[in-house]
Amino acid sequence: MSIPDDVIEQVRDTADIVSIVGDSVDLKRTGSDYRGPCPFHGGTHRNLAVIPKKGMFYCYVCHEAGDVFSFFMKRFGMDYPTAVREVARKVGIVIPERSERQGPDPYEPLYSAAAVAQDWFARQLRESAEAEGARKYLADRGIPIEVAGELGLGFAPRRGEFQAAMAELGVKEEDLVTAGLVVRREDGSIGPRFRSRLLFPIHDLRGRVVAFGGRLLGPGEPKYLNSPETPIFHKGRSLYNLHFARNAIRREESALVVEGYFDVLRLVQAGIEHVVAPLGTALTGDQVELLKRYTKSVTLLYDSDAAGLRATFRAGDELLRHDVRARVATLPPGEDPDTLVQKGGAEALQPILRDAVDVLERKIQILERKGWFEGVEHRREALDRLLPTIRAASNAITRELYLGRVAERSGVSKEVLLAEVESMRAPRPVPSNAPEARPAAGARPAPRRGRMGGVAEVELLRVLVASDDYRARAAHEVRREWFEEPLHRELFEALVADADLPATDLPARLSPAAQALWSDLRETGATLTDAVLDDHYASASEALEFRPLWRAYQLLTDDAEKLARKKELNAKYPRALQKVMHWQNPRPRSPQ
Ligand code: UTP
Ligand code: MN
Repeated sequence: MSIPDDVIEQVRDTADIVSIVGDSVDLKRTGSDYRGPCPFHGGTHRNLAVIPKKGMFYCYVCHEAGDVFSFFMKRFGMDYPTAVREVARKVGIVIPERSERQGPDPYEPLYSAAAVAQDWFARQLRESAEAEGARKYLADRGIPIEVAGELGLGFAPRRGEFQAAMAELGVKEEDLVTAGLVVRREDGSIGPRFRSRLLFPIHDLRGRVVAFGGRLLGPGEPKYLNSPETPIFHKGRSLYNLHFARNAIRREESALVVEGYFDVLRLVQAGIEHVVAPLGTALTGDQVELLKRYTKSVTLLYDSDAAGLRATFRAGDELLRHDVRARVATLPPGEDPDTLVQKGGAEALQPILRDAVDVLERKIQILERKGWFEGVEHRREALDRLLPTIRAASNAITRELYLGRVAERSGVSKEVLLAEVESMRAPRPVPSNAPEARPAAGARPAPRRGRMGGVAEVELLRVLVASDDYRARAAHEVRREWFEEPLHRELFEALVADADLPATDLPARLSPAAQALWSDLRETGATLTDAVLDDHYASASEALEFRPLWRAYQLLTDDAEKLARKKELNAKYPRALQKVMHWQNPRPRSPQ
């Protein structure tokens, strides 16, 4: 009946002492520790310290101290095994024997199906003859089978043994379907989702297996197949390895974000534990919020190729939007964290992590290297790349620092930069309550009228870059004259010249400046939903069509004529007119 030591260790390591003590004590962070009123002597001041780095608590007044288990023993009068079980239950580690957890969880059968499956897949990897190729694959990649075992890796055979085995282990077929482990074909028959793949189990924060990522062992598509969204797995809200990494993240006071499963595996193997990966998507806001529970400082460690850089900056902006410090570590060309650490061990990574720079600084570095601060026209483009990152920074101080840095580097004043950032508002709102979100009194606001059109030009282009359907539509609904900015017009013409040309072939036909714009728009437009695309297309094309008419209207001098014309415009372009009025009202222009 006694609990094995390694299980106790596992429970202790997995347990998050801050959240466990925090369940019954109101804790506040102070530096790297947490403080709250001590429940042992019933104090009201924050004399109880919880030290996540050590997994300990200590009261400065009554001197009660201990680890997460003694906390339960002392607080609730439990004996040791009961305390261990209670903590294990909280962190989702299943301790065999004894009756199951209390409080029925409606998804319990799904967790249990995933756990049983994981165990079975892992056994296949260790033992089955068919998994010989998988074991060799791991060996060739320099991953010892023990390390694979520690991370719970498994192997899914090619044929249907999985279902038979699950049936024998008492897992219901419908639970396997709901947990995404088997798929129902059109004829109603079912088969395993994963076949001939190496499986990485994905855990939730309580350490329960909720999904798998499966890598093909040879060439083929898709290289990785993940579990689908299920009641227990939402990939945009999960991070690979977070359940394991979170203590290390707290200890290191930062998290490393890498792109793939193997990167995580390799780093953990090399003793670098504060590492997580998103699950085949760009880093989402929900994932950032998850990380933020443990740290407000993240280092992005992505491939240094073009795709990796785009993903880096996109993730960087997402972090900044959530007020998390974003730093970028730069790998040598052609390496990913996996290959680098395989060759050089953790030491190879240390200088790279040490040299990590703030995401804005990294952008500046890259632009400098391209000589983009030299000529006037380039400098404009350089700014266009930096401004979104300034805008993303939701923290007032970060934003102020960014403005200062970009002003210093580009020679454009902070006030002008701020006005630009402000006018770029779409597509995501930025908090406007920060004091410096308004231009200083007396500063001349940037001209509003042209500005508005410029934003609409970009907005429309973004839709066209994102969607071939809208490209085809725009070819006969949108006129080239509507684009006043030469660069925008160039890109528009290329986009509609041959609407059947695959989007990926476009860059070859563009000037470098238009290429850069194209790839920026592609990146920022990638997440737009159909509804948003539709809305942007409609409002931006209306605004562009409306712009010359509005200018003509403003030149009218006769009040009666003006009124009549305005009514007309309002009937035909209600949204565009409203937008203009909205932008003009706060700072009315002097009558011309
Ligand atoms: P990579 O293709 O860079 O993966 O994709 P990797 O980890 O370096 O793969 P190896 O080293 O060739 O095995 C990065 C991540 O993107 C997701 C996976 O999470 C992967 O780890 N991905 C990739 C998918 O979800 N599906 C795919 O088809 C490819
Ligand atoms: Mn790789």
